[in-house]
Amino acid sequence: MPSVSLSTSKPTTARADVLILGIRGDEDKGELAETLDLLGFSGEKGQTTRFPSGGLAKAPVVIAVALPAEPTAEDLRRAAARAVRSVKNAATVAVALHPAGVDEVEAIAEGITLGSYRYDAYKSAPQGDAQRIELASAVILTPFARQTTATKAVERAATVAEAVNTARDWVNTPPGDLRPADFAESITAHVSSSLGGNEVKVSVWDDKRLAKERCGGILGVGRGSDSPPRLVTLTYEPADAVSHLALVGKGITFDSGGLSIKSGPGMSTMKIDMAGAAAVVAATVAIAQLGLPVRVTAYACIAENMPSGDATRPGDVLHMRNGSTVEVLNTDAEGRLVLADGLALAVEAEADHIVDVATLTGACVVALGERTSGILSSDEDFAGTVLASSRAAGESMWPLPIAEEMKASVHSSNVADLRQHNPKPYGGALFAAAFLREFVGEVPWAHLDIAGPSFNDGAAYDYTPNGGTGVGVRTLVRLASELAGVR
Ligand code: BES
Ligand code: ZN
Ligand code: ZN
Repeated sequence: MPSVSLSTSKPTTARADVLILGIRGDEDKGELAETLDLLGFSGEKGQTTRFPSGGLAKAPVVIAVALPAEPTAEDLRRAAARAVRSVKNAATVAVALHPAGVDEVEAIAEGITLGSYRYDAYKSAPQGDAQRIELASAVILTPFARQTTATKAVERAATVAEAVNTARDWVNTPPGDLRPADFAESITAHVSSSLGGNEVKVSVWDDKRLAKERCGGILGVGRGSDSPPRLVTLTYEPADAVSHLALVGKGITFDSGGLSIKSGPGMSTMKIDMAGAAAVVAATVAIAQLGLPVRVTAYACIAENMPSGDATRPGDVLHMRNGSTVEVLNTDAEGRLVLADGLALAVEAEADHIVDVATLTGACVVALGERTSGILSSDEDFAGTVLASSRAAGESMWPLPIAEEMKASVHSSNVADLRQHNPKPYGGALFAAAFLREFVGEVPWAHLDIAGPSFNDGAAYDYTPNGGTGVGVRTLVRLASELAGVR
Protein backbone atom coordinates (compact mmCIF):
# COMPACT_ATOMS: atom_id res chain seq x y z
CA MET A 1 0.00 0.00 0.00
CA PRO A 2 1.52 3.41 -0.87
CA SER A 3 1.97 5.92 1.92
CA VAL A 4 -0.14 9.02 1.30
CA SER A 5 0.87 12.53 2.35
CA LEU A 6 -0.10 16.15 1.61
CA SER A 7 1.79 19.05 0.07
CA THR A 8 1.04 22.64 -0.94
CA SER A 9 3.38 22.34 -3.98
CA LYS A 10 2.17 23.41 -7.41
CA PRO A 11 1.60 20.59 -9.92
CA THR A 12 4.43 21.86 -12.12
CA THR A 13 7.01 21.92 -9.33
CA ALA A 14 6.04 18.77 -7.38
CA ARG A 15 8.80 16.17 -7.30
CA ALA A 16 7.51 12.76 -8.32
CA ASP A 17 7.91 10.15 -11.06
CA VAL A 18 4.39 10.80 -12.28
CA LEU A 19 2.04 13.77 -12.00
CA ILE A 20 -1.65 12.90 -11.93
CA LEU A 21 -3.47 15.95 -13.17
CA GLY A 22 -7.24 16.45 -13.00
CA ILE A 23 -8.72 18.35 -15.95
CA ARG A 24 -12.13 19.92 -15.23
CA GLY A 25 -12.65 21.50 -18.66
CA ASP A 26 -10.87 23.52 -21.33
CA GLU A 27 -9.65 26.20 -18.88
CA ASP A 28 -7.77 23.57 -16.91
CA LYS A 29 -5.86 22.40 -19.98
CA GLY A 30 -3.68 25.53 -20.15
CA GLU A 31 -0.38 24.88 -21.90
CA LEU A 32 -1.34 21.22 -22.32
CA ALA A 33 -4.30 21.99 -24.57
CA GLU A 34 -2.60 21.02 -27.82
CA THR A 35 -1.04 17.84 -26.42
CA LEU A 36 -4.33 16.74 -24.88
CA ASP A 37 -6.25 17.47 -28.09
CA LEU A 38 -3.71 15.51 -30.14
CA LEU A 39 -4.11 12.57 -27.76
CA GLY A 40 -7.87 12.65 -28.33
CA PHE A 41 -8.56 13.68 -24.75
CA SER A 42 -12.16 14.84 -25.00
CA GLY A 43 -12.63 15.47 -21.29
CA GLU A 44 -15.35 12.86 -20.91
CA LYS A 45 -15.64 11.96 -17.20
CA GLY A 46 -13.13 9.33 -16.13
CA GLN A 47 -11.02 9.44 -19.30
CA THR A 48 -7.26 9.20 -18.74
CA THR A 49 -4.25 9.73 -20.98
CA ARG A 50 -0.49 9.47 -20.39
CA PHE A 51 2.34 11.48 -21.92
CA PRO A 52 5.87 12.74 -21.14
CA SER A 53 5.79 16.15 -19.47
CA GLY A 54 8.48 17.48 -21.84
CA GLY A 55 9.76 19.89 -19.19
CA LEU A 56 6.37 21.48 -18.52
CA ALA A 57 6.41 19.86 -15.07
CA LYS A 58 9.17 18.48 -12.83
CA ALA A 59 7.60 15.02 -12.99
CA PRO A 60 8.75 13.30 -16.18
CA VAL A 61 5.36 11.71 -16.91
CA VAL A 62 1.85 13.18 -16.71
CA ILE A 63 -1.38 11.22 -16.40
CA ALA A 64 -4.30 13.50 -17.19
CA VAL A 65 -7.68 12.45 -15.83
CA ALA A 66 -10.95 14.08 -16.86
CA LEU A 67 -13.16 15.46 -14.11
CA PRO A 68 -16.59 17.12 -14.15
CA ALA A 69 -16.66 20.90 -13.61
CA GLU A 70 -17.52 20.45 -9.93
CA PRO A 71 -16.41 16.95 -8.95
CA THR A 72 -18.07 15.22 -5.99
CA ALA A 73 -16.03 13.30 -3.42
CA GLU A 74 -17.00 10.06 -5.18
CA ASP A 75 -15.90 11.48 -8.58
CA LEU A 76 -12.49 12.21 -7.04
CA ARG A 77 -12.26 8.83 -5.28
CA ARG A 78 -12.85 7.15 -8.65
CA ALA A 79 -10.58 9.48 -10.63
CA ALA A 80 -7.68 9.05 -8.17
CA ALA A 81 -8.02 5.26 -8.30
CA ARG A 82 -8.37 5.14 -12.06
CA ALA A 83 -5.25 7.26 -12.52
CA VAL A 84 -3.25 5.30 -9.94
CA ARG A 85 -4.21 2.04 -11.65
CA SER A 86 -2.71 3.31 -14.89
CA VAL A 87 0.64 4.12 -13.24
CA LYS A 88 3.22 1.59 -14.43
CA ASN A 89 6.62 1.13 -12.89
CA ALA A 90 6.72 4.38 -10.90
CA ALA A 91 7.53 4.65 -7.21
CA THR A 92 6.11 8.10 -6.51
CA VAL A 93 3.12 10.08 -7.75
CA ALA A 94 1.91 13.62 -7.13
CA VAL A 95 -1.87 13.91 -7.31
CA ALA A 96 -3.36 17.23 -8.41
CA LEU A 97 -7.13 16.74 -8.49
CA HIS A 98 -8.18 20.15 -7.10
CA PRO A 99 -10.09 19.00 -3.98
CA ALA A 100 -12.63 21.66 -2.96
CA GLY A 101 -12.42 20.75 0.73
CA VAL A 102 -11.18 18.29 3.31
CA ASP A 103 -13.86 15.68 2.46
CA GLU A 104 -12.56 15.67 -1.10
CA VAL A 105 -8.96 15.29 0.13
CA GLU A 106 -10.12 12.27 2.13
CA ALA A 107 -11.85 10.77 -0.91
CA ILE A 108 -8.70 11.18 -3.04
CA ALA A 109 -6.60 9.49 -0.35
CA GLU A 110 -9.09 6.60 -0.19
CA GLY A 111 -9.08 6.31 -3.98
CA ILE A 112 -5.27 6.05 -4.06
CA THR A 113 -5.15 3.24 -1.48
CA LEU A 114 -8.19 1.39 -2.85
CA GLY A 115 -6.96 1.71 -6.44
CA SER A 116 -3.49 0.34 -5.64
CA TYR A 117 -4.91 -2.90 -4.24
CA ARG A 118 -3.64 -6.08 -5.82
CA TYR A 119 -4.17 -9.70 -4.81
CA ASP A 120 -1.04 -11.59 -5.76
CA ALA A 121 -0.56 -13.89 -2.76
CA TYR A 122 -0.76 -16.93 -5.04
CA LYS A 123 1.22 -15.54 -8.00
CA SER A 124 4.81 -16.67 -8.41
CA ALA A 125 7.26 -13.76 -8.15
CA PRO A 126 7.76 -12.18 -11.59
CA GLN A 127 11.12 -12.91 -13.19
CA GLY A 128 13.56 -10.63 -15.02
CA ASP A 129 11.97 -7.91 -17.17
CA ALA A 130 8.53 -8.61 -15.84
CA GLN A 131 9.60 -7.26 -12.45
CA ARG A 132 7.55 -4.17 -11.61
CA ILE A 133 8.26 -1.26 -9.38
CA GLU A 134 5.47 -0.87 -6.84
CA LEU A 135 3.98 2.52 -6.06
CA ALA A 136 5.54 3.45 -2.71
CA SER A 137 4.22 6.92 -2.02
CA ALA A 138 1.65 9.42 -3.21
CA VAL A 139 1.47 13.08 -2.35
CA ILE A 140 -1.84 14.92 -2.70
CA LEU A 141 -1.38 18.52 -3.79
CA THR A 142 -3.75 20.91 -2.03
CA PRO A 143 -3.69 24.32 -0.40
CA PHE A 144 -5.25 22.62 2.68
CA ALA A 145 -2.09 20.53 3.18
CA ARG A 146 -1.09 22.27 6.40
CA GLN A 147 -4.50 22.08 8.08
CA THR A 148 -4.80 19.48 10.82
CA THR A 149 -8.29 18.58 9.59
CA ALA A 150 -6.71 17.58 6.27
CA THR A 151 -3.98 15.49 7.93
CA LYS A 152 -6.65 13.79 10.04
CA ALA A 153 -8.73 13.13 6.92
CA VAL A 154 -5.77 11.40 5.26
CA GLU A 155 -5.20 9.24 8.34
CA ARG A 156 -8.90 8.33 8.43
CA ALA A 157 -8.78 7.46 4.73
CA ALA A 158 -5.80 5.15 5.28
CA THR A 159 -7.58 3.35 8.13
CA VAL A 160 -10.79 2.87 6.19
CA ALA A 161 -9.17 1.92 2.86
CA GLU A 162 -6.86 -0.56 4.56
CA ALA A 163 -9.92 -2.11 6.23
CA VAL A 164 -11.57 -2.45 2.81
CA ASN A 165 -8.39 -4.06 1.46
CA THR A 166 -8.30 -6.51 4.39
CA ALA A 167 -11.87 -7.58 3.62
CA ARG A 168 -10.85 -8.01 -0.05
CA ASP A 169 -7.93 -10.24 0.94
CA TRP A 170 -10.17 -12.51 2.99
CA VAL A 171 -12.73 -12.79 0.19
CA ASN A 172 -10.02 -13.53 -2.39
CA THR A 173 -8.35 -16.27 -0.34
CA PRO A 174 -9.05 -19.70 -1.88
CA PRO A 175 -11.78 -21.44 0.11
CA GLY A 176 -9.67 -24.52 0.85
CA ASP A 177 -7.21 -22.24 2.63
CA LEU A 178 -9.86 -20.33 4.56
CA ARG A 179 -12.06 -22.93 6.19
CA PRO A 180 -14.00 -21.96 9.34
CA ALA A 181 -11.14 -22.55 11.83
CA ASP A 182 -8.68 -20.76 9.51
CA PHE A 183 -10.97 -17.76 9.13
CA ALA A 184 -11.52 -17.54 12.89
CA GLU A 185 -7.76 -17.69 13.49
CA SER A 186 -7.08 -15.13 10.80
CA ILE A 187 -9.61 -12.75 12.39
CA THR A 188 -7.98 -13.18 15.81
CA ALA A 189 -4.54 -12.55 14.32
CA HIS A 190 -5.77 -9.50 12.41
CA VAL A 191 -7.29 -7.92 15.51
CA SER A 192 -4.14 -8.39 17.57
CA SER A 193 -1.81 -7.11 14.84
CA SER A 194 -3.99 -4.06 14.02
CA LEU A 195 -4.58 -2.72 17.49
CA GLY A 196 -1.99 -2.02 20.14
CA GLY A 197 -3.74 -3.11 23.31
CA ASN A 198 -6.97 -4.93 23.96
CA GLU A 199 -9.31 -2.27 22.58
CA VAL A 200 -11.12 -5.04 20.74
CA LYS A 201 -11.73 -8.34 22.52
CA VAL A 202 -12.17 -11.48 20.47
CA SER A 203 -13.98 -14.62 21.53
CA VAL A 204 -14.23 -17.74 19.40
CA TRP A 205 -16.91 -20.38 19.94
CA ASP A 206 -16.08 -23.77 18.40
CA ASP A 207 -18.69 -26.42 17.56
CA LYS A 208 -18.83 -27.80 21.11
CA ARG A 209 -19.41 -24.37 22.57
CA LEU A 210 -21.97 -23.59 19.84
CA ALA A 211 -23.87 -26.72 20.87
CA LYS A 212 -23.75 -25.72 24.54
CA GLU A 213 -25.00 -22.26 23.56
CA ARG A 214 -27.84 -23.74 21.47
CA CYS A 215 -26.77 -22.10 18.19
CA GLY A 216 -28.67 -24.60 16.06
CA GLY A 217 -28.63 -22.44 12.94
CA ILE A 218 -24.85 -22.18 12.67
CA LEU A 219 -24.43 -25.84 13.65
CA GLY A 220 -27.08 -27.02 11.18
CA VAL A 221 -25.34 -25.30 8.28
CA GLY A 222 -21.85 -26.44 9.30
CA ARG A 223 -22.87 -30.03 9.90
CA GLY A 224 -21.96 -31.35 6.45
CA SER A 225 -18.40 -30.04 6.54
CA ASP A 226 -15.29 -31.76 7.88
CA SER A 227 -14.27 -28.34 9.12
CA PRO A 228 -16.73 -27.45 11.92
CA PRO A 229 -18.28 -24.00 12.30
CA ARG A 230 -17.21 -21.07 14.46
CA LEU A 231 -18.79 -17.96 15.90
CA VAL A 232 -16.32 -15.12 16.35
CA THR A 233 -17.43 -12.19 18.51
CA LEU A 234 -15.56 -8.88 18.57
CA THR A 235 -16.31 -6.35 21.26
CA TYR A 236 -15.18 -2.73 21.25
CA GLU A 237 -16.38 -0.86 24.33
CA PRO A 238 -14.95 2.64 24.60
CA ALA A 239 -15.64 4.42 27.89
CA ASP A 240 -17.29 7.34 26.08
CA ALA A 241 -19.68 5.22 23.98
CA VAL A 242 -22.92 7.01 23.18
CA SER A 243 -24.68 4.05 21.58
CA HIS A 244 -24.32 0.31 21.01
CA LEU A 245 -24.19 -0.99 17.45
CA ALA A 246 -24.25 -4.73 16.72
CA LEU A 247 -22.92 -6.00 13.42
CA VAL A 248 -23.68 -9.51 12.17
CA GLY A 249 -21.88 -10.99 9.16
CA LYS A 250 -22.56 -14.05 7.02
CA GLY A 251 -19.35 -16.06 7.02
CA ILE A 252 -19.92 -19.06 4.76
CA THR A 253 -16.34 -19.89 3.77
CA PHE A 254 -17.67 -21.92 0.85
CA ASP A 255 -21.26 -22.36 -0.29
CA SER A 256 -21.67 -25.55 -2.29
CA GLY A 257 -25.41 -25.38 -1.58
CA GLY A 258 -25.17 -28.44 0.69
CA LEU A 259 -27.48 -31.30 -0.28
CA SER A 260 -29.51 -28.80 -2.35
CA ILE A 261 -26.29 -28.61 -4.31
CA LYS A 262 -25.51 -25.79 -6.69
CA SER A 263 -24.54 -26.25 -10.33
CA GLY A 264 -20.83 -26.17 -11.19
CA PRO A 265 -20.90 -22.63 -12.56
CA GLY A 266 -23.18 -21.58 -9.67
CA MET A 267 -20.63 -22.54 -7.05
CA SER A 268 -17.49 -21.42 -8.88
CA THR A 269 -17.34 -18.06 -7.09
CA MET A 270 -18.83 -19.20 -3.79
CA LYS A 271 -15.67 -18.48 -1.80
CA ILE A 272 -17.18 -14.98 -1.67
CA ASP A 273 -19.90 -16.13 0.69
CA MET A 274 -18.04 -14.88 3.75
CA ALA A 275 -17.81 -11.30 2.45
CA GLY A 276 -20.37 -10.09 5.01
CA ALA A 277 -18.34 -11.45 7.93
CA ALA A 278 -15.16 -10.01 6.39
CA ALA A 279 -16.83 -6.59 6.13
CA VAL A 280 -18.16 -6.48 9.71
CA VAL A 281 -14.82 -7.58 11.18
CA ALA A 282 -12.73 -5.18 9.09
CA ALA A 283 -15.14 -2.32 9.86
CA THR A 284 -15.08 -3.03 13.60
CA VAL A 285 -11.28 -2.90 13.65
CA ALA A 286 -11.35 0.39 11.70
CA ILE A 287 -13.95 1.87 14.08
CA ALA A 288 -11.71 0.97 17.03
CA GLN A 289 -8.59 2.34 15.30
CA LEU A 290 -10.45 5.60 14.73
CA GLY A 291 -11.51 5.61 18.37
CA LEU A 292 -15.14 6.37 17.54
CA PRO A 293 -17.25 6.71 20.70
CA VAL A 294 -19.67 3.93 19.85
CA ARG A 295 -19.79 0.48 21.37
CA VAL A 296 -19.60 -2.22 18.71
CA THR A 297 -20.31 -5.92 19.06
CA ALA A 298 -19.62 -7.82 15.86
CA TYR A 299 -20.59 -11.43 15.20
CA ALA A 300 -18.95 -13.37 12.38
CA CYS A 301 -21.18 -16.42 11.81
CA ILE A 302 -18.79 -18.85 10.16
CA ALA A 303 -19.54 -22.23 8.59
CA GLU A 304 -18.78 -24.18 5.44
CA ASN A 305 -21.90 -25.35 3.58
CA MET A 306 -21.10 -28.83 2.26
CA PRO A 307 -23.02 -32.00 1.37
CA SER A 308 -22.09 -35.20 3.23
CA GLY A 309 -23.55 -38.35 4.76
CA ASP A 310 -24.48 -36.31 7.81
CA ALA A 311 -25.35 -32.95 6.29
CA THR A 312 -28.61 -31.21 7.19
CA ARG A 313 -31.37 -32.46 4.88
CA PRO A 314 -34.32 -30.62 3.39
CA GLY A 315 -37.09 -31.41 5.89
CA ASP A 316 -34.86 -31.26 8.96
CA VAL A 317 -35.83 -28.94 11.82
CA LEU A 318 -33.23 -26.78 13.55
CA HIS A 319 -33.47 -25.43 17.12
CA MET A 320 -32.28 -21.85 16.95
CA ARG A 321 -30.52 -19.72 19.57
CA ASN A 322 -33.67 -17.68 20.28
CA GLY A 323 -35.65 -20.83 21.09
CA SER A 324 -37.65 -21.03 17.86
CA THR A 325 -37.69 -24.00 15.50
CA VAL A 326 -37.03 -23.74 11.77
CA GLU A 327 -37.89 -26.19 9.02
CA VAL A 328 -35.09 -26.30 6.46
CA LEU A 329 -36.47 -26.79 2.95
CA ASN A 330 -33.50 -25.82 0.82
CA THR A 331 -30.00 -26.23 2.24
CA ASP A 332 -28.71 -23.63 -0.23
CA ALA A 333 -30.61 -20.91 1.66
CA GLU A 334 -28.09 -21.30 4.49
CA GLY A 335 -27.08 -17.70 5.11
CA ARG A 336 -30.29 -16.80 6.92
CA LEU A 337 -29.79 -19.76 9.27
CA VAL A 338 -26.33 -18.71 10.47
CA LEU A 339 -27.36 -15.04 10.65
CA ALA A 340 -30.43 -15.89 12.75
CA ASP A 341 -28.24 -17.06 15.64
CA GLY A 342 -26.00 -14.00 15.34
CA LEU A 343 -29.02 -11.69 15.34
CA ALA A 344 -30.46 -13.42 18.41
CA LEU A 345 -27.15 -12.90 20.24
CA ALA A 346 -27.13 -9.23 19.21
CA VAL A 347 -30.60 -8.83 20.77
CA GLU A 348 -29.40 -10.57 23.96
CA ALA A 349 -26.46 -8.12 24.07
CA GLU A 350 -29.04 -5.29 24.18
CA ALA A 351 -27.72 -3.48 21.13
CA ASP A 352 -29.41 -0.18 20.23
CA HIS A 353 -29.13 -0.91 16.50
CA ILE A 354 -28.34 -4.04 14.50
CA VAL A 355 -26.96 -4.25 10.98
CA ASP A 356 -26.31 -7.54 9.25
CA VAL A 357 -24.26 -7.84 6.09
CA ALA A 358 -24.61 -10.87 3.84
CA THR A 359 -24.15 -12.24 0.34
CA LEU A 360 -27.66 -13.54 0.87
CA THR A 361 -29.66 -13.91 -2.32
CA GLY A 362 -29.25 -14.15 -6.07
CA ALA A 363 -32.70 -12.52 -6.13
CA CYS A 364 -31.22 -9.26 -4.84
CA VAL A 365 -28.77 -9.25 -7.76
CA VAL A 366 -31.68 -9.77 -10.16
CA ALA A 367 -33.51 -6.83 -8.55
CA LEU A 368 -30.67 -4.30 -8.21
CA GLY A 369 -27.88 -5.47 -10.51
CA GLU A 370 -24.33 -6.36 -9.64
CA ARG A 371 -23.22 -3.00 -8.23
CA THR A 372 -26.01 -2.02 -5.83
CA SER A 373 -26.65 -3.59 -2.43
CA GLY A 374 -30.15 -3.96 -1.02
CA ILE A 375 -31.16 -2.39 2.29
CA LEU A 376 -34.05 -4.19 4.00
CA SER A 377 -35.16 -3.03 7.40
CA SER A 378 -37.66 -3.17 10.24
CA ASP A 379 -37.36 0.56 10.87
CA GLU A 380 -37.74 3.28 8.25
CA ASP A 381 -35.75 5.89 10.18
CA PHE A 382 -32.83 3.57 10.70
CA ALA A 383 -32.95 2.43 7.05
CA GLY A 384 -32.74 6.13 6.12
CA THR A 385 -29.66 6.58 8.32
CA VAL A 386 -27.98 3.56 6.74
CA LEU A 387 -28.85 4.78 3.24
CA ALA A 388 -27.43 8.24 4.04
CA SER A 389 -24.24 6.63 5.37
CA SER A 390 -23.86 4.55 2.20
CA ARG A 391 -24.25 7.72 0.10
CA ALA A 392 -21.70 9.64 2.15
CA ALA A 393 -19.30 6.70 1.88
CA GLY A 394 -19.81 6.38 -1.89
CA GLU A 395 -21.29 2.85 -1.83
CA SER A 396 -24.34 2.24 -4.00
CA MET A 397 -27.23 0.83 -1.93
CA TRP A 398 -30.99 0.99 -2.35
CA PRO A 399 -33.98 0.15 -0.12
CA LEU A 400 -36.19 -2.84 -0.87
CA PRO A 401 -39.43 -3.46 1.02
CA ILE A 402 -40.18 -6.48 3.22
CA ALA A 403 -43.52 -7.10 1.56
CA GLU A 404 -46.39 -7.76 3.97
CA GLU A 405 -47.30 -11.17 2.56
CA MET A 406 -43.83 -12.56 3.35
CA LYS A 407 -44.63 -12.76 7.04
CA ALA A 408 -47.38 -15.33 6.58
CA SER A 409 -45.15 -17.31 4.26
CA VAL A 410 -42.32 -17.39 6.83
CA HIS A 411 -44.87 -18.69 9.37
CA SER A 412 -46.35 -21.34 7.05
CA SER A 413 -44.35 -24.41 8.11
CA ASN A 414 -46.51 -27.43 8.92
CA VAL A 415 -44.01 -28.85 11.41
CA ALA A 416 -41.95 -26.00 12.90
CA ASP A 417 -42.41 -22.37 13.99
CA LEU A 418 -40.85 -20.98 10.83
CA ARG A 419 -40.00 -22.15 7.34
CA GLN A 420 -36.65 -21.16 5.92
CA HIS A 421 -37.49 -21.23 2.23
CA ASN A 422 -40.38 -19.70 0.31
CA PRO A 423 -42.28 -22.21 -1.81
CA LYS A 424 -42.82 -19.39 -4.35
CA PRO A 425 -39.82 -18.31 -6.41
CA TYR A 426 -40.65 -14.57 -6.29
CA GLY A 427 -39.23 -11.86 -4.08
CA GLY A 428 -36.43 -14.05 -2.71
CA ALA A 429 -34.54 -11.15 -1.14
CA LEU A 430 -37.70 -9.99 0.60
CA PHE A 431 -38.60 -13.39 2.00
CA ALA A 432 -35.05 -13.82 3.31
CA ALA A 433 -35.30 -10.47 5.11
CA ALA A 434 -38.73 -11.36 6.52
CA PHE A 435 -37.14 -14.52 7.93
CA LEU A 436 -34.26 -12.57 9.51
CA ARG A 437 -36.70 -10.06 11.01
CA GLU A 438 -38.11 -12.86 13.16
CA PHE A 439 -34.83 -12.84 15.12
CA VAL A 440 -34.30 -9.13 15.83
CA GLY A 441 -37.14 -8.49 18.27
CA GLU A 442 -37.87 -4.79 18.65
CA VAL A 443 -34.32 -3.57 17.97
CA PRO A 444 -34.03 -1.23 14.95
CA TRP A 445 -32.35 -3.40 12.35
CA ALA A 446 -31.14 -3.16 8.77
CA HIS A 447 -30.01 -5.99 6.53
CA LEU A 448 -27.55 -5.31 3.71
CA ASP A 449 -27.76 -7.86 0.90
CA ILE A 450 -24.38 -7.53 -0.82
CA ALA A 451 -24.64 -10.62 -3.07
CA GLY A 452 -24.03 -8.54 -6.22
CA PRO A 453 -21.43 -5.93 -5.21
CA SER A 454 -19.25 -8.17 -3.00
CA PHE A 455 -17.37 -9.58 -5.97
CA ASN A 456 -16.35 -8.23 -9.36
CA ASP A 457 -15.94 -11.10 -11.79
CA GLY A 458 -14.92 -8.73 -14.59
CA ALA A 459 -12.01 -6.37 -15.14
CA ALA A 460 -11.04 -3.76 -12.55
CA TYR A 461 -12.71 -0.34 -12.85
CA ASP A 462 -12.23 2.84 -10.82
CA TYR A 463 -11.37 1.66 -7.30
CA THR A 464 -13.06 -1.72 -7.74
CA PRO A 465 -10.55 -4.50 -8.42
CA ASN A 466 -11.31 -7.85 -9.95
CA GLY A 467 -12.42 -10.27 -7.19
CA GLY A 468 -13.44 -9.27 -3.68
CA THR A 469 -14.49 -5.62 -3.40
CA GLY A 470 -14.70 -5.09 0.38
CA VAL A 471 -18.17 -3.59 -0.04
CA GLY A 472 -19.95 -2.62 3.18
CA VAL A 473 -16.87 -1.59 5.17
CA ARG A 474 -17.04 2.10 4.23
CA THR A 475 -20.78 2.32 4.91
CA LEU A 476 -20.43 0.64 8.32
CA VAL A 477 -17.63 2.96 9.43
CA ARG A 478 -19.65 6.00 8.29
CA LEU A 479 -22.71 4.67 10.08
CA ALA A 480 -20.72 4.29 13.30
CA SER A 481 -19.51 7.88 13.08
CA GLU A 482 -23.04 9.00 12.27
CA LEU A 483 -24.39 7.21 15.38
CA ALA A 484 -21.52 8.60 17.42
CA GLY A 485 -22.20 12.11 16.13
CA VAL A 486 -18.57 12.67 15.13
CA ARG A 487 -16.47 12.65 12.00
N1 BES B 1 -24.71 -17.44 -1.32
C1 BES B 1 -25.91 -17.54 -2.03
C2 BES B 1 -26.38 -16.22 -2.63
C3 BES B 1 -25.53 -15.64 -3.73
C4 BES B 1 -25.85 -15.84 -5.05
C5 BES B 1 -24.46 -14.83 -3.43
C6 BES B 1 -25.11 -15.28 -6.04
C7 BES B 1 -23.70 -14.25 -4.43
C8 BES B 1 -24.03 -14.47 -5.75
C9 BES B 1 -27.03 -18.02 -1.12
O1 BES B 1 -26.66 -18.82 -0.05
C10 BES B 1 -27.96 -18.82 -1.96
O2 BES B 1 -27.56 -19.82 -2.47
N2 BES B 1 -29.18 -18.32 -2.08
C11 BES B 1 -30.17 -18.96 -2.87
C12 BES B 1 -31.44 -18.93 -2.09
C13 BES B 1 -32.52 -19.80 -2.66
C14 BES B 1 -32.17 -21.24 -2.52
C15 BES B 1 -33.79 -19.47 -1.92
C16 BES B 1 -30.31 -18.18 -4.18
O3 BES B 1 -30.21 -16.95 -4.14
O4 BES B 1 -30.48 -18.81 -5.19
ZN1 ZN C 1 -26.55 -20.90 -0.53
ZN1 ZN D 1 -24.71 -18.55 0.62
